[in-house]
Amino acid sequence: MKKKKIITVAIDSPAAAGAGTQAKLISKKYNLFYLDTGKIYRYIGMLKLKNQKKFSHALVKHKINNLKLSNLKNKKLLSNDVALSAAMIAKDKKIRDIVHSFQQKYAYKPPKKYNGSVLDGRDIITVQLKDAMFKFFITASINVRAKRRYKEFKSLNKKIAYNDVLKSLRIRDKSDKERKYGPLKKTKDSILINTTKLSKKACFEKIKAIMDKKLNN
Ligand code: C5P
Repeated sequence: MKKKKIITVAIDSPAAAGAGTQAKLISKKYNLFYLDTGKIYRYIGMLKLKNQKKFSHALVKHKINNLKLSNLKNKKLLSNDVALSAAMIAKDKKIRDIVHSFQQKYAYKPPKKYNGSVLDGRDIITVQLKDAMFKFFITASINVRAKRRYKEFKSLNKKIAYNDVLKSLRIRDKSDKERKYGPLKKTKDSILINTTKLSKKACFEKIKAIMDKKLNN
């Protein structure tokens, strides 16, 4: 089932470290299908905020079975409240299992026009794409991440104080690293890319050099 030789790129990172930006650049350069897995947890996080009382594993399963990729483009998923809710529901093993099944088909059987897939999230290297051809752990200092996220919120016209952005990232970092199922951690076989002092372009150049070396061999 998983035999067709495709390029697979797995990226794990804490929130707002620049993984999404790099994943998009990788997907464009190598013609890979990109799945931002955080959006799926955000989608469920939003479902929880909207249906406090009716929220159940059955509802999540039903919604994920019927999930279309276009649903993940909803701008409401970008809010801070949804991000925090996502981090809370992401601790639940059953929810992670439901998301896992959804992700596997895109990871190993991306639409035919692509040469492979690139997934980013918290448990991509450790759980979802353990045998990925490329494994990157992308990170940046908490202050740089908070500044970047704050700028993003501003550009989306979302009103939030810088300190609340920082606080929210700290809560999510802690929860994502310390939870029992699918915690964020760097594996020994993944390549560390620290984006704190690097431009988007400089980061991508690093990644591209690593990928080209292996792909051209
Ligand atoms: O990446 P993003 O910030 O959109 O992710 C939102 C939340 O979803 C994370 O804080 C994390 O709790 C959860 N998540 C996860 N596993 C992933 C991707 C995201 O638990 N693979």
